[in-house]
Amino acid sequence: MPGRIPQEFIDELIDRADIIEVIGNRIQLKKAGREHKACCPFHNEKTPSFTVSPDKGFYHCFGCGAHGTALGFLMEHDHLEFVDAVEELASLYGMEVPRDQTPSAPAPPSAPLYELLGEVALFFRQCLRDHPRAIDYLKARGLDGNTAKRYLIGYAPGGWDTVLKKFGDSDELRERLLKAGLIIENEQSRSYDRFRDRVVFPIRDSRGRVVGFGGRIIDDGEPKYLNSPETPVFHKGRELYGLFEMRQALRQLERVLVVEGYMDVVALAHHGILNVVATLGTATTVDQLRRLFRTTQEVVFCFDGDRAGREAASRALQVGLAEMRDGRQLRFLFLPEGQDPDSLVQSEGAEGLHQRLSGSVALSEYLLTELKAQTDMGTVDGRARLAELARPLLSRLPEGVYRELLLDRIAAEVGLSTARLVDTLQLSNAARASVVRRPSVTGKRSGLVRHAIRLVLHYPSVATEIQTPEGLEDAEQPGLALLLELLELARDRPDINTAVLEERLRDRPEARHLTTLLGQEMLVDRDEAAAELTGSLAGIQRQVHEQRLESLIARADGLSATEKQEFLRLQQNLSAEGDMT
Ligand code: UTP
Ligand code: MN
Repeated sequence: MPGRIPQEFIDELIDRADIIEVIGNRIQLKKAGREHKACCPFHNEKTPSFTVSPDKGFYHCFGCGAHGTALGFLMEHDHLEFVDAVEELASLYGMEVPRDQTPSAPAPPSAPLYELLGEVALFFRQCLRDHPRAIDYLKARGLDGNTAKRYLIGYAPGGWDTVLKKFGDSDELRERLLKAGLIIENEQSRSYDRFRDRVVFPIRDSRGRVVGFGGRIIDDGEPKYLNSPETPVFHKGRELYGLFEMRQALRQLERVLVVEGYMDVVALAHHGILNVVATLGTATTVDQLRRLFRTTQEVVFCFDGDRAGREAASRALQVGLAEMRDGRQLRFLFLPEGQDPDSLVQSEGAEGLHQRLSGSVALSEYLLTELKAQTDMGTVDGRARLAELARPLLSRLPEGVYRELLLDRIAAEVGLSTARLVDTLQLSNAARASVVRRPSVTGKRSGLVRHAIRLVLHYPSVATEIQTPEGLEDAEQPGLALLLELLELARDRPDINTAVLEERLRDRPEARHLTTLLGQEMLVDRDEAAAELTGSLAGIQRQVHEQRLESLIARADGLSATEKQEFLRLQQNLSAEGDMT
């Protein structure tokens, strides 16, 4: 794959894009004041609650909460991946998409690499026909010609230079082979084929182009699997083995299974279970999970029952939490030790596997089991510890019904009301009116940090007009780090608009909160925004001081000399501030 698209380019693209044009080309928009309205394309409705704001550069649906920039719309509406959406939007404005690795020269075209990889895959397929040993191996593993064909399974012949000879006629071609990861160059600059005497599984990208291979040794030997290295067109953390084939086979995907091995995918497919993909020998990444959730609402991870499997599951849990939006489901299936989906489907058939799938556990279930295993639920201390353990996990969850439900469940386990639990965990930063002496009307209701974030999002240019109070960097208020980052971004680029800011934050776990915040009506005018923001920041600083003071008081007996000084200073500051109002 080519290099990263520079952020500045995306900024500029969003700046330049006319969101009315982009969306208006796809659905019927009606002008209503400064905004445009339509029936929402993302949910069923009869009266329009979908609005597009040309000034702010984003759309928002008050019905279903769908929200985003022109880029986001292309991704959601046309089901494009981020990079494809960028390409699409750029082409609309006649802009060339630059890549980071090549500051001046244009990115080296990847087309020849794709072409070469495709040809080599076909060559490996031909080779399979001439190698009964490889065919017998696949048959012995329960596969047939149809499955082999569907997945383009082939055979890389033995010998050191079959591919090199056939595809490496010139220096340029050999260079290409090397770049595609098909040959290896040793220290003496001698080249040889990477895949030798192995059954090969071509890995295709979402558009069906071969981008790499996995090669299995026939029978026993080390290493069991050899994989393509990272190349300009192949990134392990992005691709999913079987994704293309799955999408080809099935239009509707209610759920997708994620397994660990190439053989698992093809064996399940052979048994008619086609909704399955594999990660490529690594833990599931956010990128991969997002891709899956763009295709389906339910993802089921299948793990071995051994320790490695449980560790993999725990990592998948971490990654999965941040992606748990309402309506999405993430489940975990633990297989008996020593078994994998391939061996299970061989011994129990598709029916058996389906039965096991109905016994998979939901993410919430799994999370609770994991947490409970780490603490003694029979004691009060143990239950309190459960809440503590849950905190970093819960803080990854986007706001929404899902989070509420999970909080309810944990509260029940711990024996607290949900409100108390939220309070204890400080997950919500609803303003504490008693602490804040100068609350703004709107700030009181929605939380100071939130209110400040909304102000910066709606009016980025005010950031240049105000000063950020000191000492906020180390505070642990939820959302505060994001607020400070936004302020900095907006200060760097006073002309930045809301949509650009939003795109910058696309990959942040908090991005979903922003969606909610942006959807809320802004009651403050641009003229009042600077004063309002200054007020909110002062209030936040005050909260931070109060909290710090409380924590010092709690440890009153063990304070160091500097801490005692800090204590006195905070106390003075706080009472001075209090007098002013
Ligand atoms: P497994 O060891 O579970 O292999 O590795 P498997 O899929 O069950 O293979 P069979 O049934 O023995 O043929 C799972 C995945 O981990 C990666 C591969 O992607 C494999 O599919 N792996 C494993 C490697 O990259 N290299 C290895 O040596 C082993
Ligand atoms: Mn296996």
